[in-house]
Amino acid sequence: MLDALVERGPPTPADGRATYFEPFLGGGALFFQLGWPGRAVLNDLNAELIATFEVVRDRVQPLIERLGERHQRYLDGDEEGRKQLFYEVRAERPSDPVEVAARMIFLNKTCFNGLYRVNRKGEFNVPHGRYKKPAILDCETLMAASRALQDVELAHQDFEDACEPAQAGDFVYLDPPFSPMSKTASFTSYTADGFGREDQVRLKTLVDRLSERGVHVMVSNSPQELIYGLYQGSEHFQQYCVEALQARRMINSRGDRRGGIKELVITNYPTPPGLERAPQSTK
Ligand SMILES: C[S@@+](CC[C@H](N)C(=O)[O-])C[C@H]1O[C@@H](n2cnc3c(N)ncnc32)[C@H](O)[C@@H]1O
Repeated sequence: MLDALVERGPPTPADGRATYFEPFLGGGALFFQLGWPGRAVLNDLNAELIATFEVVRDRVQPLIERLGERHQRYLDGDEEGRKQLFYEVRAERPSDPVEVAARMIFLNKTCFNGLYRVNRKGEFNVPHGRYKKPAILDCETLMAASRALQDVELAHQDFEDACEPAQAGDFVYLDPPFSPMSKTASFTSYTADGFGREDQVRLKTLVDRLSERGVHVMVSNSPQELIYGLYQGSEHFQQYCVEALQARRMINSRGDRRGGIKELVITNYPTPPGLERAPQSTK
């Protein structure tokens, strides 16, 4: 999936002058895959997530030490001990940035399916997972991430504000929380406020504004009528390319629902011809 996104990157090669914006950062998978040579601005509304990225960028050694302690204590515990440690850490409300980052990474590695979900109060509420040997401390990955982040600007604000400085030639990749695919699916609560229909409309209007300014935009989204309608029915811009891709999203409690979900990729520039494409769907 990531390769498919990289192949559909903007038409002009990054020459070191254009800025890369990723306003819905999450784990930043595309940023790390792209290896963008120029300036990069990464943003997420989740303040703890951005604090964690800042610690990975600026204080990776103390983070590694703290995670190492937690890693050892977790692996030394029996099933009950591990569970107890997980809920102990989940209940913590640290203010020291290294502790915030260590808690976030620990919970991400030991919770159910690596899911991130919060309740209405913004409290992380995913239960304990059942990994035998979770990689709570992965030094190599942390060090590589730290190097990649050295000159990166990090911010936590709403996606619209984060895109304000984007200029002609810059590249903005937007990967908003997906709308639920069924009435029972509830994987939308990355933040206490959720991401609903109005936010999707706000996002589309932002894409129009960025397009008018000559900014290259790529959006990942769920293949829903609302999203097709917003972009394909757009009077404003005829140039949107809307393509359905096969995605492999690992986060689903039912194994049979994990593979093959289609993901929409929308660009405001033509994607290169000759790419391997899934059959086009019009709705
Ligand atoms: C689908 S995830 C991004 C996944 C990411 N591309 C990755 O590789 O992991 C969506 C992210 O958007 C963030 N988010 C939700 N609402 C937002 C908003 N209004 N402005 C900025 N970020 C927001 C969430 O905190 C979450 O991290």
